[in-house]
Amino acid sequence: MNLVDVTLHDLTVDPHAALAAARATGPVAWLPAVDGWVVTGRDAAVEVMRDPHRFTVDDPRFTTGQILGPSMLSTDGSDHARHRGPFTRWFSDRAELLRLGHWMTEYARRLVAGFQPDGRAELRSALAAPLAAGTVTHMLRLESTGAAALLRWYAEIVAGVHNLATGDAAGESATQAHRELSAAITAVSRTEPPALLIDAMGVLSADEVVANAAVILFGGIETAEGATANAIWHLLTNPAALDAVQADRSLVGTAVEESLRLEPAAASIDRYATTDTELFGASIRAGDYVVVSLAGANRDPAVFANPDQFDLGRSNLRAHTTFALGPHACLGIHLARSQAIAGVEALLDGLDSIRLGDDANGPLGLVFRKPASLDATWVPR
Ligand code: HEM
Repeated sequence: MNLVDVTLHDLTVDPHAALAAARATGPVAWLPAVDGWVVTGRDAAVEVMRDPHRFTVDDPRFTTGQILGPSMLSTDGSDHARHRGPFTRWFSDRAELLRLGHWMTEYARRLVAGFQPDGRAELRSALAAPLAAGTVTHMLRLESTGAAALLRWYAEIVAGVHNLATGDAAGESATQAHRELSAAITAVSRTEPPALLIDAMGVLSADEVVANAAVILFGGIETAEGATANAIWHLLTNPAALDAVQADRSLVGTAVEESLRLEPAAASIDRYATTDTELFGASIRAGDYVVVSLAGANRDPAVFANPDQFDLGRSNLRAHTTFALGPHACLGIHLARSQAIAGVEALLDGLDSIRLGDDANGPLGLVFRKPASLDATWVPR
């Protein structure tokens, strides 16, 4: 495959062949379809993620920041540390994570029990999506607002980000959605602030608390849904792995991890070169757009043997880059893992003889990758 022929459609539908073609020309390759560099070698990807001085997120082309305002996602250096710092304690607090883990396990079981008698469901919308949205709603104590409103605002804001990326104004709907989201977060912070926001409320401005809460909220909806849905897809399309996991439940975590490697729910992250620089043989110019392909790095054959295979026996399973590394490494890493595990376990415990239905299909998407349909059937109890 010639890189000039690779289209955004290829990268959306089946990126892995295109990424392998890019890697064959070098770990850092110019990809006309994205008008930038694509990094597919794991070592090169790690170097970019760990060096915010040369490769920053802080660039006007990063459109999410234009709608939500500055946050940990759109800043680097000391500003980033100021935005992110007050959230790190909660995300690594064992007691909080344990409590939320129990909550997710219970919630996933309730969801499965609700559709179990039907014998058929589309598992992404029936399980993965409500589990992800319900979890972040619960974390931020936004239950009275409700996951449905949050998802509607999220969709409007994503549409606004897309408008900005294609050169239009964000649009009134996105602005209104952001206004309503801000009001909901501000109201809950005034009355009964969630533990997650308490440290931040002491050191960040009200707008900054809202922007970072929105990043956490939205960071936890789409990616976590994808992680659970992709893990279910990988298990239901790999009968030997499914048998192994059913026989030994301690393998659920391994299956989730291997699924995270094979189809990272966020397939790529964006950076912008701050200076002319050499990167693994590529001459990058100041201002160039650099796409770190986590999907590509995770299938680097120099690191992962038979990289396209779903293999529960890998010794270096956790060498994947799915949660990013460096200063922007995912804050929700433990939460995301335990959520996908809770979803898969609820499914295995609650449904008998489960198999994919005719309408099921595999992970799809340019950045956020997940099955369009996880149609499945089972024998009702
Ligand atoms: C499997 C699910 C998830 C995946 C694959 C994932 C992936 C990522 C990646 C790749 C980044 C780096 C972004 C960048 O550098 O540009 C990131 C950052 C982040 N993630 Fe996640 N994430 C997941 C779940 C979550 C959850 C559940 C939460 C919170 C509830 C969360 C919160 C965040 C936050 C706040 C950041 C920004 C960190 C910063 O910029 O300093 N993520 N995530």
